Amino acid sequence: MSEFQISPNAKPIAADLRAAMLQDPGFGRVFTDHMVVIEWNEAKGWHDARVEARGPLSIDPACAVLHYAQEIFEGLKAYRVPSGDVVLFRPDANARRFNESAERMAMPSLPEDTFVEALEQLIRIDRDWIPEGEGSLYLRPFMFGSETFLGVKPSAEYKFIVIASSVGAYFKGGKPGISVWLSEHYTRAARGGTGAAKCGGNYASSLIAQKEAIGHGCDQVVFLDAVEQRWVEELGGMNTFFVMDDGSLVTPPLGGTILPGITRDSLLTLARAGGITVREERYAIDQWLEDARSGRLREAFACGTAAVITPIVEVRGQTHNFTIGNGGPGIETMRLRDALTAIQRGTAPDPHGWVRPV
Ligand code: PLP
Ligand code: COI
Repeated sequence: MSEFQISPNAKPIAADLRAAMLQDPGFGRVFTDHMVVIEWNEAKGWHDARVEARGPLSIDPACAVLHYAQEIFEGLKAYRVPSGDVVLFRPDANARRFNESAERMAMPSLPEDTFVEALEQLIRIDRDWIPEGEGSLYLRPFMFGSETFLGVKPSAEYKFIVIASSVGAYFKGGKPGISVWLSEHYTRAARGGTGAAKCGGNYASSLIAQKEAIGHGCDQVVFLDAVEQRWVEELGGMNTFFVMDDGSLVTPPLGGTILPGITRDSLLTLARAGGITVREERYAIDQWLEDARSGRLREAFACGTAAVITPIVEVRGQTHNFTIGNGGPGIETMRLRDALTAIQRGTAPDPHGWVRPV
């Protein structure tokens, strides 16, 4: 593929307005001045890579994605480190997962170095949008079928786009702990489905359960497996971990029905390197309740790029209502959170080579 064409936004947002927007950006509401677009078709492969002013897309009403939801995405963050440099956390892992999602959704793969270069191009031109302090720049690469055609088959044309959003904490007010609602009605993914792919459709089908959670005053929905409705899988947008009273960690295994989280994988590595016993094994909802009541379970937390590591302090549902630990953030959870964020923010050594300067 040829070089990226760069057309800077002729009307970037004024610096004082940007500074005001970065004061308290929340999550996913403040967007930068530019975007990256790369096109794909059967004849040319990936072509016409460009960095241009962020703006609306023009698509035909018969655009494939609007009908058959052939769409995948990623989420990762860029951080400003103490030297003033900007770094990405494990972008190669997101590039790999993006291609695994693409394969599942019958979409073309994108060379990993093109994926990473697209991120770097956008960060370089929009680096002033990275908030100071606790904030970061959330990058959202995505791809969709853009052929104008009605008929169920893989699209013959695709667009790959990267946008960026200046973000603070995902949960409002930077909550110290979240409550989760146990979905007994809906499941997220079954064997052979798209659970391990990061495709928009997974989120579309989860929204009603997330709405139910919010309706019951909870922050997130927790899904059980589709076959027995017994095993804890993951939250609407995060993986889960359990901290037992012997200091060991338990997390549901990857098996095609949950997203293979990069935060999850990083925590498994950090915990094992720190001598903590980690078991990737199924954990039943009844066991969760029993262990929380007996004290065998000390802590639970959610993890993901957006959520970082957030303590789960309460579980609610039709048949299950219980508090975890003392209802506040647990020591082990916060220790792991500090260890991970120190690597991401360049205040601790990076023994696993996860941090990539831009
Ligand atoms: N599970 C789901 C359903 C998610 O949406 C996410 C977030 O991307 C995760 C888990 C965590 O993945 P990661 O740690 O790669 O952000
Ligand atoms: C992420 O963490 O990147 C996600 O995609 C999850 C969503 C809750 C924003």
